[in-house]
Amino acid sequence: MNSDRETTQTSGMQQLADCCGAVMVVSRERRRGVRCCGIALGTRLQPGEAQRLSDCLQALAHPVRLQVLDLLARNQGQVCVCDLESALPVKQPTISHHLKLLCGAGLVAHERRGIWSYYFVRREALADLTSLIVAQLTAWSVSGPTPEATGSEANASPVAVSIGRAKRGELSAILSLLERCGLATAGLTDHLETTLVARAENRVVGSAALELYGSSALLRSVAVEEALRGCGIGQRLTSQALELAKRRGVAKVYLLTDTAMAFYPRFGFRPIPRDQAAPAVQRSVEFTGACPTTAQAMELLIERPRGERP
Ligand SMILES: CC(C)(COP(=O)(O)OP(=O)(O)OC[C@H]1O[C@@H](n2cnc3c(N)ncnc32)[C@H](O)[C@@H]1OP(=O)(O)O)[C@@H](O)C(=O)NCCC(=O)NCCS
Repeated sequence: MNSDRETTQTSGMQQLADCCGAVMVVSRERRRGVRCCGIALGTRLQPGEAQRLSDCLQALAHPVRLQVLDLLARNQGQVCVCDLESALPVKQPTISHHLKLLCGAGLVAHERRGIWSYYFVRREALADLTSLIVAQLTAWSVSGPTPEATGSEANASPVAVSIGRAKRGELSAILSLLERCGLATAGLTDHLETTLVARAENRVVGSAALELYGSSALLRSVAVEEALRGCGIGQRLTSQALELAKRRGVAKVYLLTDTAMAFYPRFGFRPIPRDQAAPAVQRSVEFTGACPTTAQAMELLIERPRGERP
């Protein structure tokens, strides 16, 4: 195998059945470094994302840490180190070591009461971790070949994603998604009725919300789970939110963005000065403070067939 030419026994192997049903193995030679197949491999999981996911999995990956999490989650704020020592088959230094790792990963925190420290799980951090891991595993478990590998259309979603109205029970998952995507959450709760979500395997993996102000609306909270970006979900969410605006008689849709200005022109949005937005929209939470002042305002005029009134 040290020679320039190597005999491949796996990828270069061809098995041919002869007419008697016996298997004939034909080995093919190839030069070192020469590819044996023509599929263009492309990874959507970038090194930084892979590192983050790996760190998260390592924070969980020990039986003692899993038992500690279980005990803390079921006895929130009531557990100190000596309680853990009596409940687990390991000594106090070992428990302290694992608690330190869990605290370092942000999954557990503690507060001092007298001379004792009481530990509790950070439920929001665990919810974020759940979404991160599940989104990635979902992407792998239900995905087909990536568009790059097949040359098919870029907006063919590799996971089974459905889009629908947000349910009240999905609010915390939406807020947590927005936080992970670095978007404002303030004020969204008041507009849940006109919020759409993308779901994969019953989990929220995307969102787009409309704030309705008479014949104007604010499009906000357009976000897609990082692991599922680039599959057309953001465009489907935006298109359906704009359809909803149309059905609700909206004539002008506005938005503020400092991260995706080049994403919206494909729907007909154009940049405008902030003070040209409809007055009611300018009084929204996003315009009055939730979004940075540097965010660009954009406007879309909804087209209707001649004679159709909004
Ligand atoms: C913006 C976002 C919702 C797009 O979702 P997505 O599912 O990745 O987008 P799609 O797969 O439907 O569309 C991909 C296309 O949008 C473009 N696009 C995606 N994100 C973009 C961005 N931030 N800025 C400009 N263009 C973007 C891609 O380049 C691609 O363009 P192409 O069709 O010309 O190749 C997603 O990137 C996201 O959640 N970003 C973080 C949150 C955010 O910034 N939201 C916007 C708030 S105003």
